[in-house]
Amino acid sequence: MNFQIKSIEDYQLAYKKSVDEPEEFWAEIASHFHWRKKWDKVLEWNFEEPKIEWFKGAKLNITENCLDRHLADKADQPAIIWESNDPTEHHRVLTYKQLHQKVSLFANVLKNNGVRKGDRVCIYMPMVPELAVAVLACARMGAIHSVVFGGFSAQSIADRIKDAQCEMVITADGGFRGAKDIPLKNVIDDALVQCPSVKTVIVLTRTRTPISMIKGRDVWWEDEIRKVETLGLLECEAEEMDAEDELFILYTSGSTGKPKGVVHTCGGYMVYAGYTFQNVFQYNPGDVYFCTADIGWITGHSYIIYGPLAMGATTLMFEGVPTYPDAGRFWDIVDKYKVNTLYTAPTAIRSLMQSGLDFVKDKDLSSLKVLGSVGEPINEEAWHWYDENIGKKNCPIVDTWWQTETGGIMITPLAGITKTKPSFATLPLPGIQPVLVDEKGEEILGNNVSGNLCIKFPWPGMIRTTYGDHERCRQNYFATYHNMYFTGDGCLRDEDGYYRITGRVDDVINVSGHRIGTAEVENAINMFSDVIESAVVGYPHEIKGQGIYAFVILNHPSDDEELARKDIAVTVSRIIGPIARPDKIQFVTGLPKTRSGKIMRRILRKIAEGDLENLGDISTLLDPSVVEQIKNEKL
Ligand code: WTA
Repeated sequence: MNFQIKSIEDYQLAYKKSVDEPEEFWAEIASHFHWRKKWDKVLEWNFEEPKIEWFKGAKLNITENCLDRHLADKADQPAIIWESNDPTEHHRVLTYKQLHQKVSLFANVLKNNGVRKGDRVCIYMPMVPELAVAVLACARMGAIHSVVFGGFSAQSIADRIKDAQCEMVITADGGFRGAKDIPLKNVIDDALVQCPSVKTVIVLTRTRTPISMIKGRDVWWEDEIRKVETLGLLECEAEEMDAEDELFILYTSGSTGKPKGVVHTCGGYMVYAGYTFQNVFQYNPGDVYFCTADIGWITGHSYIIYGPLAMGATTLMFEGVPTYPDAGRFWDIVDKYKVNTLYTAPTAIRSLMQSGLDFVKDKDLSSLKVLGSVGEPINEEAWHWYDENIGKKNCPIVDTWWQTETGGIMITPLAGITKTKPSFATLPLPGIQPVLVDEKGEEILGNNVSGNLCIKFPWPGMIRTTYGDHERCRQNYFATYHNMYFTGDGCLRDEDGYYRITGRVDDVINVSGHRIGTAEVENAINMFSDVIESAVVGYPHEIKGQGIYAFVILNHPSDDEELARKDIAVTVSRIIGPIARPDKIQFVTGLPKTRSGKIMRRILRKIAEGDLENLGDISTLLDPSVVEQIKNEKL
């Protein structure tokens, strides 16, 4: 690939060109992809509406880039290596040729079941190769996929299906995760009670958990494949898509309301996922690349499926969890497949760190060349542990900062090229123009400064809209600061111009790398019959990065507080999913409110953090005495 950056000088040249001549810069990169028709215009944009169009007029199909174009020279190279949750179950390998066949067949299954270009398909599946097949099959025939993470509840799935008006759901009977079986189809059945738009459910066999297949709605994956095979529908010509046609929707939490459907489009997303994958990880042909994320999150979309496959890489997919059957599982996988690049989250590193070095010591990790981190700030201790015990001080660590909305990595070292510094995401990729702004929206210039992180120029992988509600997209990302995309993160720039992301400045918390809106959790808690009001904040958690701390006012303060806590936790699991269960629930008789009735979260945050001495001015509170009580009963 000749857009590969090979040295810091290459990086500086590319960066300069990307700022001086962005259209020429991205046109040259895009020319390394396969287009049915080239674009009329590289970029049209304004951040007012916002309107962002990349490679306008171009025609393509992302799966021709991820599959077909590799058949000439990589047909028999592994595209996906799959490792089961159960270490004794045989692994699977899909070569590019086999993956191409499976995607084509399943795209025909979708068509055969009435799915048309532009229809929305919800995917709720375990981490098995068929999940990647389902995603790519949608992309091949022009359906818009909306993947929902397996840890979300029926209610959350129903909200997402209704918002996108999905016509189809693809799921499995169940999924294996560690010692647990997840009853995926049962959860879907509960969700679909509320979702009349769904006409068909395709169910893959994975666990053989007993499930109810509803006549006229539910069909088995395996039967449907057989049908199209019998009909001889083995090939599926890729649908011709406009560069700006929607490729997928992915729901993510913001500071207010329900999660929003972030929309990415075909052309720009493909170019950005491919370009960043290649350069950040410095991928070499034949390397085995292992990203431990779940495909239910953006990291899995961009860096298990689309980025690696667009670049003809071998991507390893793991069904299970890092601690099953024991805390050495990642290292067993690295050893077994001679993994060259490992991309994981700080929360996983911290949890494995706590399990001790016994799980690492007999594993051969010598194949590793590059380590990556994503999803939350990595603390220095975890960074050093990763560097010393996993990388053996021999592997650059790329601390990659980005978001669901950015589509791909934004600020990061380039492996082996950028000098790293623990807990710093370092420098922006070419094409990315970060700025720090103060509360008034003024750009803060110079080094050794901190502020809110914004991006002042478009990049191809950026969010185009929030599904069905463009105004929400404008409000959320483009209205806070004039003419800039606002990330929601705080950030500092040190004396070397290196960036360090310090965490969210809005009401979003990042629990084990999962984004959760405090308002969402409050709404769920407030559904519990005896709750009058609640306030949720994040607090530092040793393993999860942040934990969820809930302050709750009950109508009838209970004698059995433990039971009341469990009831509330169950309620939150049911409404949002287990990932949003509060870690701490403190019952209070009042919340610190201003005279206008606004909850002063700043104070609650300080209390949850244990910083009781620095609560600041509380004299403006309606009833300052509640603060004393909350402080005294802090958990
Ligand atoms: C946080 C995940 C510090 C950040 C790809 C961002 C990070 C949010 C990093 C997006 C990092 C992600 N260092 N913080 N390297 N990477 N974040 O949408 O707060 O699930 O806004 O995308 O995670 O989370 P999301």
